[in-house]
Amino acid sequence: MRIGILGSGVVGQALSRGYARHGHEARIGTRKSDVEGLPVGSPTEVVADADLVVLAVKGEAAVELVSGLAGELDGKVVVDTTNPLDFSSGGPGLFVGTTDSLGEQVQRAVPGARVVKAYNTVGNAHMVDPQLPGGPPTMFIAGDDDAAKATVTELLRATGWDVADLGGIQASRWLEAMCMAWVVYGAKNGTWDHAFRLLRPE
Ligand SMILES: NC(=O)c1ccc[n+]([C@@H]2O[C@H](COP(=O)([O-])OP(=O)(O)OC[C@H]3O[C@@H](n4cnc5c(N)ncnc54)[C@H](OP(=O)(O)O)[C@@H]3O)[C@@H](O)[C@H]2O)c1
Repeated sequence: MRIGILGSGVVGQALSRGYARHGHEARIGTRKSDVEGLPVGSPTEVVADADLVVLAVKGEAAVELVSGLAGELDGKVVVDTTNPLDFSSGGPGLFVGTTDSLGEQVQRAVPGARVVKAYNTVGNAHMVDPQLPGGPPTMFIAGDDDAAKATVTELLRATGWDVADLGGIQASRWLEAMCMAWVVYGAKNGTWDHAFRLLRPE
């Protein structure tokens, strides 16, 4: 698959390397001309060329960025990894939550795109091929388009994940809150190598 990744931070880089290991053609859409020697392009050309797009930019830049690419994103599966992190009052909080979410804001900004929230509840080091004691962790996803979620589920399973679908994009409200539980546990214990796993009957 040709995967276009918007954002060249640690998430964009980890996904680019990880997808390439699995034989995908990954390219980062960025304002930079070089990102650690990884394949890059402008956001517009990378999205236009992609079978699947991953949104991996700073939370506060997400809506503006996708709004500017609405034409190119029309009809595409857009995997939204972003969290609405807010450090303005010292410790981390969320700049939207409980009655709305960044996932929903992104979907509203590009109504023609098929947004699937994923990857936002785990650290970048474990996003592809997570190796944790106790077996594969669970990636929680949410989105309004079932076919888009099926595509993302296939990609996730092929890259080492159990997948749990929480339903429509509105469930991003609870996935973004889950991110905070992950962050707070990490800060308290000084570790970033943890992940959630859902135990349920077969
Ligand atoms: N770090 C993690 O382990 C982790 C885990 C789960 C979810 N997330 C979420 O994933 C997203 C990416 O996280 P990150 O840690 O890789 O990096 P980040 O520091 O949150 O974001 C960096 C990226 O944001 C883009 N960006 C910043 N301001 C922008 C603007 N005004 N317009 C367009 N693009 C802008 C930059 O794009 P350019 O490439 O163009 O410079 C850069 O690539 C965030 O929303 C984060 O909350 C992170």
